[in-house]
Amino acid sequence: MKITFAEQADTEIVAYVVDENGALPDAATSLDEETGGLLTEALSQERFTGKHGQQAYIVLPKSCKARRAVLIGGGKPADRDGRAQEKIGALLVKTQAGSGFKSMAIHIDDAEFAARAAQGAELASYRFDDYFTKLKDDQKPSLESITVVGSNSDAASKAYEPLAAAAAGTALARTLMNLPPNDLYPQTYADRIKELEKYGLEVQVLGEAEMEKLGMGALLGVGQGSVKESKMAIMKWSGGKEGEAPVALVGKGVCFDTGGISLKPGPGMEDMRGDMGGSAAVVGTMLSLAKRKAKANVVGLVGLVENMPDGNAIRPGDILKSASGQTIEVQNTDAEGRLVLCDVLWYAQEYFKPKEIVDLATLTGAIVISLGHHHAGLFTNDDGMAETLTKAGLTEGERVWRLPLGSEYDSLLKSKFADMRNIGGRAAGSITAAQFLKRFIRDGQKWTHLDIAGVAWVEGEKSPIDPSWASGFGPRLLDRWIADNHES
Ligand code: BES
Ligand code: MN
Ligand code: ZN
Repeated sequence: MKITFAEQADTEIVAYVVDENGALPDAATSLDEETGGLLTEALSQERFTGKHGQQAYIVLPKSCKARRAVLIGGGKPADRDGRAQEKIGALLVKTQAGSGFKSMAIHIDDAEFAARAAQGAELASYRFDDYFTKLKDDQKPSLESITVVGSNSDAASKAYEPLAAAAAGTALARTLMNLPPNDLYPQTYADRIKELEKYGLEVQVLGEAEMEKLGMGALLGVGQGSVKESKMAIMKWSGGKEGEAPVALVGKGVCFDTGGISLKPGPGMEDMRGDMGGSAAVVGTMLSLAKRKAKANVVGLVGLVENMPDGNAIRPGDILKSASGQTIEVQNTDAEGRLVLCDVLWYAQEYFKPKEIVDLATLTGAIVISLGHHHAGLFTNDDGMAETLTKAGLTEGERVWRLPLGSEYDSLLKSKFADMRNIGGRAAGSITAAQFLKRFIRDGQKWTHLDIAGVAWVEGEKSPIDPSWASGFGPRLLDRWIADNHES
């Protein structure tokens, strides 16, 4: 969507925000007079009260420049937080995108509100249509441009810049997740990451031979049943002080997770195209940082593999040697995400000495049972990180909820044959997975693990800012967290 800010605009649709039980906003009075009071009349019709998200449409007389006016309920101003603000932009896109009209103005004076509504509109206009070959014109969106009109348009436009960068990262994360696994596999995924160099990121891709030299036997073990070569991509954004230790973002990129020899049941397996959601969050964030030229040093590392059953696949009972030197008895080949992450986490620490690490992964079904679809699970060895990430999540509407770590859970990972096994048992599945990762974190290293299995994609009722299967969870949270905590 083309989004601009101006003090006035000529568009086919004009939208005004009406506070709950409030009057028509000043910006609407001239159109109201021009139409002999059509807008005022709409206020008292069809139960329109200005409740948040309500909409009333007015067909405008031929004498007007615009064709349609929309009144949208803004709710009570005191309740209008960032979520409510972005939802107003999103709902207008949702209802007007297929209206047949190409241009819309949204009248909002407050700069912060205007910027948030614009971000909501941008997020809501995301589409993933490339694989439909029979779409008729009336199934495609008509709306091409939105002008957010207000008296503070310069400030609004400035406030929107970082939000637009975050929205671009979200859109990229969504697309990577939505792409089918026959088109997005480690090599093609790495190619797409490489393309981000045009935004100023430095990208390095390692293949199996290089990872073998590094001893990354856990990650390589997962990919060994696939005909697709495993990869690790490393993205660097160096916008901070020279020589300052970076923040590391680490992502699970299982391009498809069949479960391997511990095969998953058939129904719903197609969702495992999204098992690279953690890596998509990292890649999306790196794009956001580059787009807004963040003043921070950040390195993103993603382990890209496909988990397939095959004559050459790892078996339950196999013992893998991780890059850290620790050995792992594989008791379930479907607990593969932690095997990928442990080697990438090792690499991040060995080569970058990061000040803080955040890893993201669609790691466990158990987190969906504990937290559902509205919070990611947060596990950390640092209270400060728990606090700053929780706050960033609340600001951006990508919420996280802390769960415990503890040595009692760690002992569930004992193996008869190796340093550890890759599953804990039935109880506390998300915690034992986090405990597993913690075994690869060096003493003194600040680290947080986000289990995003419940939030990376959502079936059923969805927020209007999130129209596609993949939510694109991550870039907004991480970009905000970096902006607020790691920039000079
Ligand atoms: N990718 C799955 C986790 C998952 C489940 C993500 C549902 C999104 C939705 C992960 O690799 C997995 O299979 N985990 C197992 C671990 C178990 C074998 C210890 C699980 O959660 O069942
Ligand atoms: Mn699995
Ligand atoms: Zn998985």
